[in-house]
Amino acid sequence: MPLHRRAFVLGGHITPFIGKKHPDFVWKGHPDFGTRDNPTLEDYVVTAVTEALASTGTPAELVDKAWIGNFVGELFSAQGHLGAAVAGAHPGLKYKPVMRVEGACASGGLAFASAVESIQAGSDVTLVAGAEVQTTASARQGGDYLARASHYARQRGIDDFTFPALFARRARAAYGSGVITEDDTARISVKAYANAHKNPLAHMKAVPMPFEVARTASDANPAFLGNPELQPFLKVSDCSQVSDGGAAMIVVSEEGLRKLGRTPADAVEILGVGAATGNLFEDDDLLSMPTTAHAAARAYAQAGITAADVDVAEVHDCFAITEILMYEALGFAAAGQGAALIREGRTELSGDLPVNTGGGLIGFGHPVGATGVKQILELVRQLRGACGAYQIGGAPSVALAANMGGDDKTAVVSVLRAG
Ligand code: CAA
Repeated sequence: MPLHRRAFVLGGHITPFIGKKHPDFVWKGHPDFGTRDNPTLEDYVVTAVTEALASTGTPAELVDKAWIGNFVGELFSAQGHLGAAVAGAHPGLKYKPVMRVEGACASGGLAFASAVESIQAGSDVTLVAGAEVQTTASARQGGDYLARASHYARQRGIDDFTFPALFARRARAAYGSGVITEDDTARISVKAYANAHKNPLAHMKAVPMPFEVARTASDANPAFLGNPELQPFLKVSDCSQVSDGGAAMIVVSEEGLRKLGRTPADAVEILGVGAATGNLFEDDDLLSMPTTAHAAARAYAQAGITAADVDVAEVHDCFAITEILMYEALGFAAAGQGAALIREGRTELSGDLPVNTGGGLIGFGHPVGATGVKQILELVRQLRGACGAYQIGGAPSVALAANMGGDDKTAVVSVLRAG
């Protein structure tokens, strides 16, 4: 069923995503250490929300409802209850209804899906935010916090770095099957870093990643897992970043556009949103992502398109292997054929289906709750021709975002069309 009320993204704001190895990230070796602090979770919420309102010309008073995606603010920043932080971001938002949404790394996507449902139910002007700060803890401690997105009682013990290990398990299965090689995942990482180098907001904008480094474990690119059975199947270059950042956007109905003095031509239309949730207590086949596939089927049906219609995509590359499995779950390639898309360069900026053009989670960074919101805004920018050095050619018209939480346990797939 198509959306019965048309819905649009008017625009929004993405903060820089920063963390270790980003030139502006303050740590003990940085020249600014002791004179300047990194932004807090509250800073990211306030900046993203106020800039989204200002850059779209949306008076806060006109916002009917708002959502914020955040995974574990309580653990990294000792701060929960972030709906009230959104209400505190601008005087005009005080006493608006704001809800925090949590679906692990798909929290931002779920916040977006909630706004679209609210438009269907009669809202006209909505605000969607996402934010996460993760650099307040070491990567090892953060591994424990992020493990809350797995089935902790059953899966925490796989490795100190639970999520890297869960995806090393998928990489081991994929390499063992012979359909995906270590060079294929290295190509995904090289693409992510190369795209990030063109993106001023990206966490890894200044970090080189030559193919020779990405393809083999070395001191420069360690296989860092402690689990000896999984350790050979994952390197630092395969991983998304431990990033801080925020993003926010304005989602409106046609009536909302009118209230703001705008027309559909000023916005990007949302054609379909599909969500799906898998079973936390058991794992599916390691070579497929059925939860994402279910979400995609719903999004395609609502949008009235097929995978072949997609011109540009943002997919959840929490690890390099995930991006290739996503190609298959989203129908960009048949099962077992996903690696061909990266081998043939089809998902590079110059290819016929560019994927993760700003660097994805590996290159742009992965402040968990912000990621799903950032993905939508990146696509809005591609559809508007606003991506600067990484703008793709060919006037893209249809775009797809796939945001995933846990090990393919929560998925939100969204389809957008240029205004
Ligand atoms: N040789 C061997 N081991 C080394 C090494 C070397 N040269 N250098 C580092 N290591 C090991 C060490 O054991 C080190 O740990 P300790 O220092 O605590 O002993 C460990 O690697 C980590 O090293 P660093 O702290 O220096 O690593 P880093 O800060 O550069 O982080 C990373 C690298 C561990 C890969 C980190 O970026 C990371 O954890 N990334 C993944 C983040 C993640 O999992 N996000 C969630 C994705 S899953 C998803 O999206 C779904 C969901 O719902 C959660």
